Amino acid sequence: MNPADFDYLYTLLKARSGFVISKEKIYLLESRLLPVARANGFQALDELVRAMKLPTGGNLQETVVEAMTTNETFFFRDKSPFDHLNEVILPHMLVERARTRRLRIWCAAASTGQEPFSIAICLKEIADKIGNWHVDITATDISNDVLEKAKVGLYSQFEVQRGLPIQQLVKYFKQTGDLWQISSDLRAMVEFHPFNLLDDFASLGKFDIIFCRNVLIYFDREGKSDVLDRLSKQLVPDGYLLLGAAETVIGLSNEFKPVPQKRGLYQSVNAANNIGAAQSTVGSRNDGPANRALASLRQRAG
Ligand SMILES: C[S@@+](CC[C@H](N)C(=O)[O-])C[C@H]1O[C@@H](n2cnc3c(N)ncnc32)[C@H](O)[C@@H]1O
Repeated sequence: MNPADFDYLYTLLKARSGFVISKEKIYLLESRLLPVARANGFQALDELVRAMKLPTGGNLQETVVEAMTTNETFFFRDKSPFDHLNEVILPHMLVERARTRRLRIWCAAASTGQEPFSIAICLKEIADKIGNWHVDITATDISNDVLEKAKVGLYSQFEVQRGLPIQQLVKYFKQTGDLWQISSDLRAMVEFHPFNLLDDFASLGKFDIIFCRNVLIYFDREGKSDVLDRLSKQLVPDGYLLLGAAETVIGLSNEFKPVPQKRGLYQSVNAANNIGAAQSTVGSRNDGPANRALASLRQRAG
């Protein structure tokens, strides 16, 4: 790849998705974009880049950004975030939201749905306590392709074998041919919408829990700090943020503090120190903005 084409793609990807690619990863650009070039009738990458620069190149640019996203995910990935959800976050919320019985959860880089459905399964497992609550799980991703798959909730044998305990496979999935489909009531618990983490979060409203896992690893330092600081504004004061195993807030954002002994789990620096004693805010906040936020996402999704 010639240096000018690399510079063009570097700048486009960073500006459109936050993805920062180093020169050592040129092979990744080539292996992901050559099939895109061929599918669009070009023999080589420089022809694709030339077409992207034309006034008519908008769709190609979008296809390239999408092709460069890494969508790797699996059910109950890394296990510990879901242990934190079951052992720390949900017990806290059951006490603090007992009056309002409302919970808003954002899965901010949901890929093909395994992460938000793992969250939904955790909630379903405590249906005796939370069954009559109003729980929103908003799952977003920049890639329309992964969201289309997520909405259908159909997974291969290989995908359900990665991380999903057999008891939960049998309990929550139905086999259709070679594939497994997650039950309609679990699908109904999750709303999927396209959303770019570079966009303004204000329209989304506030959340009690934010999962933003394994996406900021692809951003540079400045990009990570920017997203983390803006995420802090979307979290209620006693809310929780979960990051991926290779991600941290340390040195990047002063808005969060790690929850001691709970790797990957963070709260606002202003949250009360003793878990369970933090002041509930859902009761005092107006539910209007949350509803408006969902309406705005639905509108964007068309
Ligand atoms: C590696 S997957 C992680 C999926 C899941 N969170 C997990 O941990 O298993 C990263 C996801 O982030 C999405 N993504 C990348 N850049 C994004 C952006 N700027 N805004 C929203 N989603 C983005 C990708 O499309 C991809 O599906």
